[in-house]
Amino acid sequence: MENKIREVPAQLASSAYINKENYQTLYKQSIDNPDLFWAEQASQFITWFSPWKTVQSGDFKTLDIRWFIDGKLNASYNCIDRHLKERKDQIAILWQGDNPNESSTLTYQQLYEKVCHFANVLKNLGIKKGDRICIYLPMIPEIAIAMLACTRIGAIHSVVFSAFSPDSLSARILDADCRLLITADEGVRGGKKNPLKSHADKALEKCPNVKHVIVVKRTGTAIPWNQKRDLWYHEELENADAECTPEKMDSDDPLFILYTSGSTGSPKGILHSTGGYLVYAAMTHKFVFNYQPGDIYWCTADIGWITGHSYVIYGPLLNGATTLLFEGVPHYPTFARFWEIVDQYKVNIFYTAPTAIRALHKEGDQWVKKTSRKSLKILGTVGEPINPDAWEWYYRVIGNEHCPIVDTWWQTETGGIMITPFPGATPLKPGSVSWPFFGVLPLVVDEQGNPVEDGKVGKLIIKKPWPGLMKTIYGDQQRFKETYFKEIPGNYLTGDGADRDKEGYFWIVGRNDDVIKVSGHRIGSGELEAVLNSHASVAESAVVGAPDEIKGNIIYAFVTLKSGIQPNDQLKKELIQLIKDEIGPHAIIGTIQWAKDLPKTRSGKIMRRLLRKIACNELTDLGDTSTLADPGVVDDLVGERKK
Ligand code: WT7
Repeated sequence: MENKIREVPAQLASSAYINKENYQTLYKQSIDNPDLFWAEQASQFITWFSPWKTVQSGDFKTLDIRWFIDGKLNASYNCIDRHLKERKDQIAILWQGDNPNESSTLTYQQLYEKVCHFANVLKNLGIKKGDRICIYLPMIPEIAIAMLACTRIGAIHSVVFSAFSPDSLSARILDADCRLLITADEGVRGGKKNPLKSHADKALEKCPNVKHVIVVKRTGTAIPWNQKRDLWYHEELENADAECTPEKMDSDDPLFILYTSGSTGSPKGILHSTGGYLVYAAMTHKFVFNYQPGDIYWCTADIGWITGHSYVIYGPLLNGATTLLFEGVPHYPTFARFWEIVDQYKVNIFYTAPTAIRALHKEGDQWVKKTSRKSLKILGTVGEPINPDAWEWYYRVIGNEHCPIVDTWWQTETGGIMITPFPGATPLKPGSVSWPFFGVLPLVVDEQGNPVEDGKVGKLIIKKPWPGLMKTIYGDQQRFKETYFKEIPGNYLTGDGADRDKEGYFWIVGRNDDVIKVSGHRIGSGELEAVLNSHASVAESAVVGAPDEIKGNIIYAFVTLKSGIQPNDQLKKELIQLIKDEIGPHAIIGTIQWAKDLPKTRSGKIMRRLLRKIACNELTDLGDTSTLADPGVVDDLVGERKK
C-alpha cells in the first residue's frame, strides 16, 4: 500500500477555513462536546422557522435517534428563498445537455418560481404532507425542481435512477406506496435514447395506487398517453399559482427515501429526515470542498444516487452555490467532454468517481491536454477505492499538481461525507480517505468488535450518531436494527473493510458483505441471484465481485443449470440480457462460470468466501474448506476456472 504524503499547495491552504493547525482542535471539540458543536453548525448553516429545543437524543442501543428536536424548517426554503435577497440573479443551476450545444440556466429567482409553481401542481393533484412521490427523471433541471417542490409541501420524494428497469421501478414504487410518478418522455445519454415513459407505463401496470403521472417533454418523441392518468409537466405548470408557502416541517419529519442495495433481500428504502440531513449536507459541502461564494461547482454523479442528492442538489443549493447539472457521459462526443465543460463554465470544484477517472486515464493524456482546466481548485472522488495510479493521474494531469484531491468515503445511509481529507489541512496520501469528518468516530474492529491494531484490516464501524445518519429503513425498523446495529451491538456497521495506519489515515479495502460495487454502482448479489434463478434453465446461482481495472469490480456469476440442460453460449447471452431487462443496464454481468454444484457447508450455506477467491483467480490458497459438505465441488470449480 502506498504511504507517501503529497503536500497540499500552500495557496489553497490559505483560503481554507480549516487548516493544519485547527483541524485537530475542531475535531476534538466535535467529539468531546457534540451538542455544542452541532448547535453551532445548525444555526450557521440552516434557517429555522423555530429553533430546536434539544440538539440530540437517542443512541445506537435504543435507535430512536433524533436531531434538533422540535426545530421547524423547510428544505426548499433553505435551498432557495433565503438566498433571494442576496443572489436572486445568480445562477443556481447550470445545465448542459447530452448534446454539447444544448444548455440552459436557472437563476435562484427562476428556480424559486418554478418550484413554487410545481409545488402547486402537486397540491392541486391532492398531494399532501407525508405523501410519497416517485421521481424517475434523467439529469435535467426538472429533476431538481421536482425534488424541491416535494419538499416545499412536505411530500417525501423517492428518486429512482433513470436506468432502472420497469421491474426495479415498480418494486420501489410499491415499497414506498407512492401516490404519483414524475417522469419524462425519454432520456438522452451518450447519444442514446432511454424510453422512460414506456418503462413507466410498464411499471405502473403493477401499481394501482399511482393515480397520476406527470411527464416532462424532453425529446418530444411520440409516446402512448393515458388520458385519465397522464399530465404534461409544462401544461400543468402554466395553470398553477405562483405563490406557495413552504410547509413548516419538523426536524425529524422525513425528507426523502432513496433505495439502495444490501447483502440480502430487496433494495432498502433509506429514509433521511429533514433537520439532521440538511445540516450535515450543507456543512460537509462547505468544508470538504472549501466552497467559497462565487465558485462554480460540479459533481458529475447522477441524482438517482445519494451523491446526486447531497452534492448536486442539497449541499450546494443550501450554500447558495452554482451547481452544474450534466445530462451526458464522460466519453460523448469525445473523451475530452468533462474537461471541455470545465473550461466552458470555469468550473472550480469538480467531484467524480474513480471509475470515470480510470476510464479517461486509459484513453491517454491527449484529450485532457486540449483543455486548460485552469479554473480548477479542488478535485474530489467518491464511490469506491481509488487506486494510487488513478489518483496520481487525476492529481498530475487533470489538476496540474495544484489541486488537492479529496477522496471522500461515505454511503447512502450516512447522508454525507464521513471520512475525507480537508483541502489545505490534510497532507494527502494517494489511495487513503484520510481522516474523519467532524463529529464522526470511526473504528476498525475484529469479528467480536474489538479494535484491531493499526495497519490491520478489519470491519469499519462508527461509534456515535451524527446528524446525517438515516432515520430508518422505510417501513422496516426491524431490518434497520438488524442490518446495521446487530453484528457489533451499539455501533453502526458500515459493511466495509478498512484499516487505519499509524498516522490515523483510513484506507478502505472494499465491501466485506455481499454488496458489489460495479463502476461505483451498488448492487446486491441477492437481487442478481433472484433474477438468475428465475430463468427456466437455472437451478441455482451465486454472484460475487471480481476485480476489474476500470470498473473496480465486475459481476461474476456462478450458475448451476437444471439437470439435463447443457451449458451453451446462447444461454449465457440470455442470462446477461435477463439481468439487463430486470434490473437495468448498469448491472451488466461480466463473467458467467457454469458450476456443476455450488460449494456449501453442511448446513446448506453457500461459501461465498471461496467463490470470491475463485472469481479473483486466487486459486492457490483457498483457506479452510473442511466444513464443506462436498469438498470435491471446489476441485471442479477450480478446474473450470483454469480452462
Ligand atoms: C459504498 C457506499 C456515498 C456516495 C456514493 C456511494 C464505497 C464510497 C468510497 C471511497 C472507497 C468508497 C464503500 C461504501 N465507497 N466512497 N472514497 N473509497 N470506497 O454510495 O452507493 O451507498 O455506496 O461505496 O464501499 O460502503 P453507496
